[in-house]
Amino acid sequence: MASSSNLLFLSFFLFLTISQTQAKTFRPKALLLPVTKDSSSLQYTTQIKQRTPLVPIKLTIDVGGNFMWVACEGYVSSSYRPVPCGSKTCKISRSGVCVTQCPPPHRPGCHNNACSQLSYNPYTRISTLGEMAADAVSIQSTDGRSSGPMVFVPGLVFTCTSSTPSLLKGLSSGAKGIAGIGRSQISLTSQFASAFKFQRIFAVCLSSSSQSNGVIIFGNVPYEFQLKDVSNYLKYTPLIHNPRSTRRYYSKDDPSTDYFIRLTSIKINGRAVPLNMSRLDIDKEGKGGTKISTVDPYTLMERSIFAAVLKVFMEETKGMTRVPSVNPFNYCISSKNLGSSRVGPPVPTIDLGLHDKSVTWRIFGANSMVQVKDDVLCLGFIDGGLNPRTSVVIGGYQLEDNLLQFDLVKRRLGFTSSLLFMQTTCANFNFTSSV
Ligand SMILES: *[C@@H]1O[C@H](CO)[C@@H](O)[C@H](O)[C@H]1NC(C)=O
Ligand SMILES: *[C@@H]1O[C@H](CO)[C@@H](O)[C@H](O)[C@H]1NC(C)=O
Repeated sequence: MASSSNLLFLSFFLFLTISQTQAKTFRPKALLLPVTKDSSSLQYTTQIKQRTPLVPIKLTIDVGGNFMWVACEGYVSSSYRPVPCGSKTCKISRSGVCVTQCPPPHRPGCHNNACSQLSYNPYTRISTLGEMAADAVSIQSTDGRSSGPMVFVPGLVFTCTSSTPSLLKGLSSGAKGIAGIGRSQISLTSQFASAFKFQRIFAVCLSSSSQSNGVIIFGNVPYEFQLKDVSNYLKYTPLIHNPRSTRRYYSKDDPSTDYFIRLTSIKINGRAVPLNMSRLDIDKEGKGGTKISTVDPYTLMERSIFAAVLKVFMEETKGMTRVPSVNPFNYCISSKNLGSSRVGPPVPTIDLGLHDKSVTWRIFGANSMVQVKDDVLCLGFIDGGLNPRTSVVIGGYQLEDNLLQFDLVKRRLGFTSSLLFMQTTCANFNFTSSV
């Protein structure tokens, strides 16, 4: 009978053999996940084919999530392998928990001597213990121009978590877990990079439409949207290390797996918004700062920052017709007679000033104003409360139709600002397979 460590060795060996065999025939330059916006939950979801035989699994994307986790209920697969305690994978996952005895019958999610992890639900902010495991996935390749053949990853590490009533609460209908692509050694980015010798780089392009998909591309390739290589438009700002996790429960030496950037100023129509600068820094306890989130549908700002932004924005839109506000927004205007522009409603631009004065992320009307009903547009920023853990959380709506490149090698974030300006969108990726 094979011991767990032999099993791990075996699956590792299999993994190597298969990826080497594949390399002879076809070696992908990059991989691709289609991303769908769920119009009711406002979550961004994807589908991954996992297990033997392959089953499509719907997952909500968490750009700051530290790994992929899946609800174990009904999990059937002949290629499922638990990750043993003490293994290298277990160590780099910073698990800290070993389940030595799981009462039989043993099944996915329940084995002896299994490395365990806390699966985090960012909507309920609840963490649930699950078993780390490796299983097969099939994922589409790409050259950055169009989608290519499916490739097979025999042992993708994830966490299989037994469903408690709260585990999937708050997730988009039908979603079975979270696809985490945060700053960790076991995120999908890190695993795809080591499986196919990619650089640890990925790009996210969220579509503003729930009718047509956006993409996440793993690997370093051009990013072509309707014949336009938008990588030429990338500007860069450093990714900032946050020494403390931003979850509700965490241990003292758990760094955050979220992507933080250094926001230093906000200008509306070129006018500086007065800000309490100390809130824009990350303190020793990991509080403050600015992060990117695909989990929050709209940008959240600490109350004093929000109030200052709102005040200047209102002053700069004085000539427009204010209408009663619509939840969850505070400030709405009539879009009658407002006209439009290539980059959305013609409202004052909002510039996020970053690490260097010359580097700004410009937010146009398409990303600042939300159409809540006919003729009503609301400023799509939300009061993040008095004392939030993170001062500014840049949410999904502000990211849509912008390409973001997360480069873990150079530790920087590349961003394009609105692709509408370049007359394309995130939905323009060519999903027509070249085979
Ligand atoms: C600025 O923020 C810090 C917390 O980061 C707070 O202690 C201080 O009172 C704030 N200053 C003002 C003027 O609001
Ligand atoms: C999409 O990609 C396919 C395969 O590479 C190609 O034949 C087709 O012309 C492309 N379509 C567009 C609109 O670029």
